[in-house]
Amino acid sequence: MKVDSFDNTLVFENNDLQTVLLYFKENRRMPEYIERAMLRVILEKTTRNDMELETVDEYFSRLPLSFVQKTITDITILFSRNIEVSYKQNYLSYLLYYLPGNIFKVWKPLLDLQLKSALKPQMRILDIGTGPGSVPIGIIEYYKSLAESFSDITFSLSFTLIESEREFIDIAIKMINKITNYLPQNLMIVVESTLCEKVGLENDFEAIGKFDLITMSNFLTENEGENQLNGVSIINKFKSNTKNDGSLIIIEPGKKVSGIALKKIRNEVFQKRIFNIFSPCIGIWEDKTTYDCMCFNMVRCYWEVPNIYRYLISKGLSKAKRVDVPFSYLVLRQDNLKKYSIIKSTQHFTRLIDLKGKNGQNVNIIAIIRTVIYNGERVSFSLCDGSCSFSEDDSKAIWVNVSNEQLNRMGISIPLISAEKITLKKVSVKLNHERINLEIDNNSRITIDY
Ligand SMILES: C[S@@+](CC[C@H](N)C(=O)[O-])C[C@H]1O[C@@H](n2cnc3c(N)ncnc32)[C@H](O)[C@@H]1O
Repeated sequence: MKVDSFDNTLVFENNDLQTVLLYFKENRRMPEYIERAMLRVILEKTTRNDMELETVDEYFSRLPLSFVQKTITDITILFSRNIEVSYKQNYLSYLLYYLPGNIFKVWKPLLDLQLKSALKPQMRILDIGTGPGSVPIGIIEYYKSLAESFSDITFSLSFTLIESEREFIDIAIKMINKITNYLPQNLMIVVESTLCEKVGLENDFEAIGKFDLITMSNFLTENEGENQLNGVSIINKFKSNTKNDGSLIIIEPGKKVSGIALKKIRNEVFQKRIFNIFSPCIGIWEDKTTYDCMCFNMVRCYWEVPNIYRYLISKGLSKAKRVDVPFSYLVLRQDNLKKYSIIKSTQHFTRLIDLKGKNGQNVNIIAIIRTVIYNGERVSFSLCDGSCSFSEDDSKAIWVNVSNEQLNRMGISIPLISAEKITLKKVSVKLNHERINLEIDNNSRITIDY
């Protein structure tokens, strides 16, 4: 991989794309040093005893039982209703349960940016509503993989954190400091500043300057007070903090109510020309001039259930058994860059909106993957090309069902995630009421353009 001397961005060469895609081949696995860092912070805060222990099991054996029981109760009720959450008594429960699930979501939008050479080796990053530091830790882990794969490049990440709860800032700094001990020498991390402030309509963040990347994760949800209502104004407020070639990543929970609220905010942000949409929803055949759909399509991050979850399950937690962590995301820019360029030549391809008239026929399709569902040996995915809109991933969506073996035979060995551009050749259209299935047979071909 080279660093572009003009833009200072990371540019793939030779097999670099394959190297980075391999990070996504296996399920995400939480490194034990992150689990130990979390448990060490928790022990320090609950017992006033800062101990460095060798294994997570040693930490588990020292956790006060009353803490474990309270945590399980907190986790069960914390986000169970669509009302504002108070973190006052729940900082450590959030750290223990929600940080692991939220770390790796940012990898997908980072990959989208890197595929378009829009990541830099040195990044100034602003994380808004940082909580225990989930997003900074996720970005550090992604850059750790880059630093290990590309040891001739020096990487550095400088974080500014905005968070209204002082206790969360303290936890986030402890977490980031602890994990920096486990990073390769060519990756430098610094927490440049922290702002303990509640972002609202009034405050102004001009003074903190401009950033390569701004992130908000689980910040605009219905559980975070007025943030969702003020979402467009808050995004607009941080526009002046985004460098001309900078990006804003928004990640929201994989719940229908949050996903649709995010689309509503996106539509208005685009309509008011605050930012352009970089990914995941962009037109294939022409630039979208309006965004009006509010369909719900979640992304899934597959992972190995972490030790901490197994421990909590063994102590009676009934959640935490999911093999995937669902979420919705959005990447915004102001330089009109998009993850994929518009395809000018439409010959030989059928737009999704025209499929209804093609029942039983063989067609060629280019589209963006909306949602992927792995079910044993089979994979289902739904498609969008910007020519039509969907209410959700239900019976009215356009689906493809294929086996892992078929994908492997066509040279696709990296699990599909979402927002990839896919080309399907010689697939047959099967219309069943309003649902359209595109069926694959031995003559069909599938290619993915990352
Ligand atoms: C659900 S947590 C998300 C934490 C972290 N980003 C993650 O994804 O795990 C939301 C965080 O945003 C903070 N927060 C919510 N509204 C805020 C606001 N208006 N200004 C600053 N911080 C806010 C909360 O205190 C909380 O720590």
